Amino acid sequence: MVRPRPAVEALPAYRPGRNPADLARETGVERAVKLASNEVAFPPLPAVVEALAAAAAETNRYPDNGALVLTDALARRYDVHPAQVVTGCGAVMLCQQLAQSFNDPGTSIAFAWRSFEMYPLLAQVAGACSIQVPLVPGRPGGPADTHDLEALAAAVDEGTRVVFVCNPNNPTGTAVRRPELERFLDAVPEHALVVLDEAYREFVTDPDVPDGLELMRGRPNVAVLRTFSKAWGLAGLRVGYLVAEDPAVADAVRRTHVPFSVSMLAQAAAVAALASEDEVRRRCAAVTDERERLTGSLRERGFDVSDSQANFVWLPTGERTAELAAALESRAVITRPFAGDGIRVTVGTPEEDDLFLTALDEVRAGVPVL
Ligand SMILES: Cc1ncc(COP(=O)(O)O)c(C=O)c1O
Repeated sequence: MVRPRPAVEALPAYRPGRNPADLARETGVERAVKLASNEVAFPPLPAVVEALAAAAAETNRYPDNGALVLTDALARRYDVHPAQVVTGCGAVMLCQQLAQSFNDPGTSIAFAWRSFEMYPLLAQVAGACSIQVPLVPGRPGGPADTHDLEALAAAVDEGTRVVFVCNPNNPTGTAVRRPELERFLDAVPEHALVVLDEAYREFVTDPDVPDGLELMRGRPNVAVLRTFSKAWGLAGLRVGYLVAEDPAVADAVRRTHVPFSVSMLAQAAAVAALASEDEVRRRCAAVTDERERLTGSLRERGFDVSDSQANFVWLPTGERTAELAAALESRAVITRPFAGDGIRVTVGTPEEDDLFLTALDEVRAGVPVL
């Protein structure tokens, strides 16, 4: 009998998220509300739809394996050399490429926990050890929701090749500020690559939360990871990018890419999205205004909600998490529970968020599902 590698056997089996159309049918509502994956609720940008239609006519051909037009557009946008930029089939594949490019079996990847759920899994696939440094309360008496960068720097040892700092952190939404991040980057030894995972950067409104691309300058062991899936509205197309201070880091990541994995449609859409940045900014402002309203509404209901700098909020519901998420789901609201810990709720439209709040009120009041 063929056997997968033990590390692969030990991975959790893939469990698809709840499909909103199925749930709507089951619960007898017109439309289920999906607040589980941190997408934006806006439809694709008009320029994206146009670019997709034009590119569709070319799809009998392979895409540009080097994504040259997109890479150049990103380099111009962020004022870096194209050799510093790598595109990937979603930021998540770039995470995997980072592990493949830098981690021999037995080396380690360090990150805070809880953070982006893929970090421990990709370490496992690479045969690397995970060094997980617990989050700490961001304010006295609050939930453990914030990076402890001093402890993370102290946890890096001679076997550590990659350190992920998810800023803002998924799923807690908190962000670390400039002085502590600078101190951290100064403290991490040069043999460890610090990857600032800024998948949610565009939703940051706190001026003291630094732009990783600025902090990266002059630090050859720092790279910044971003995605078109969230603010730019291209989650279904799968495209992300890494910008590294040292072109040799970008080159190493490029070497482990799966050929042609950034599709022609994804490349065309990302170029069109970049050219629509003003509209993207307006959309992000609407999301962050709604984030403040949702946060306030949850706090009024007694939830200890952290200050989020992303397009989601975190409810530290502890042991009640699974039960509460299931009860919301029975009211056609899909959230993202992390059993025993908390529930991540994506900021939706005001109407979607009101449906979520109503469902939450009904669950807490013990109103039976009709
Ligand atoms: C922190 C973080 N990094 C990376 C990703 C990957 O994004 P994508 O693969 O859609 O570009 C996500 C997606 O949820 C994320 O939350």
